[in-house]
Amino acid sequence: MGLVEDFEHVSAGGLHWKLEEIPFARIDLGRVKDDAQLFAMLTCASFVEIASDLYGRNLVTHFADNADVVAWISGHWQPEEVQHGRALKAYVKAVWPDFPWAEAFDAFIQDYAPTATQAHLEPRRALEMAARCMVETGTATFYTALGAHCEEPVLRQIVLNIRNDEIRHYKHFYRFFKDYNALERQGNAAIARTLVKRMAITRNEDAYLAYKHFHAVRYPREAFTDAHFQQYLERGRRLARRTYPFPMAAKMTLRLLNLNTRVRTALTPAVAFLARGILMR
Ligand SMILES: [Fe+2]
Ligand SMILES: [Fe+2]
Repeated sequence: MGLVEDFEHVSAGGLHWKLEEIPFARIDLGRVKDDAQLFAMLTCASFVEIASDLYGRNLVTHFADNADVVAWISGHWQPEEVQHGRALKAYVKAVWPDFPWAEAFDAFIQDYAPTATQAHLEPRRALEMAARCMVETGTATFYTALGAHCEEPVLRQIVLNIRNDEIRHYKHFYRFFKDYNALERQGNAAIARTLVKRMAITRNEDAYLAYKHFHAVRYPREAFTDAHFQQYLERGRRLARRTYPFPMAAKMTLRLLNLNTRVRTALTPAVAFLARGILMR
């Protein structure tokens, strides 16, 4: 049996929910429209999600000789990631209609596209799959935290839909990782290095460009500086402090290392504690 067929809940159409099903007309505007940090975060998330399409094309080229991977990336992963971006974009446009989303996105994508090259992919297949798992861990935990934070019901529905997709993405990439690593036998040191590298790239490069172009359009008279970027990150951390699921992040990360179940279970609370210390400092 192929890897993809194992996930019987993957719907035939490739999407588990549809943008048209989201009741945008029922948004409780009063609960969100004054939340400047949420505005920035949702806009930036919409940019990065839509830009996944470029990364998807690189993945399809990188894994061109694996029909299972190619079919899942282009038939499921790519359309789902783009739908995440479209749903967030529609939400931003409904709540903050004066923001010229397209103008900011065009500037962002021009800056971002040259960075989404094959060169950013890990040459070893197992390591690229581990890196993908790390990115999905980041998004799954981010949307979990956001879902617990947001009180506006329509946003909550969108965020939880996205979160469920991201967890499923992790599971698929994890299967692919296991298959490739059975052949490549990467050690814990190489895997851990890859995970740390990918975590740093995601946190800094993608987020930096997204906030830069959000800020440039939102505050056209103010040049975007490193201090602004740090401020956005700090506000994001503040927002997530109460709701970020550290044990979930630790569990998803530790699963990628070759550890026996007892060691992994014993390590999870310690890693969760450390991650809290690092991310929330
Ligand atoms: Fe996504
Ligand atoms: Fe994803």
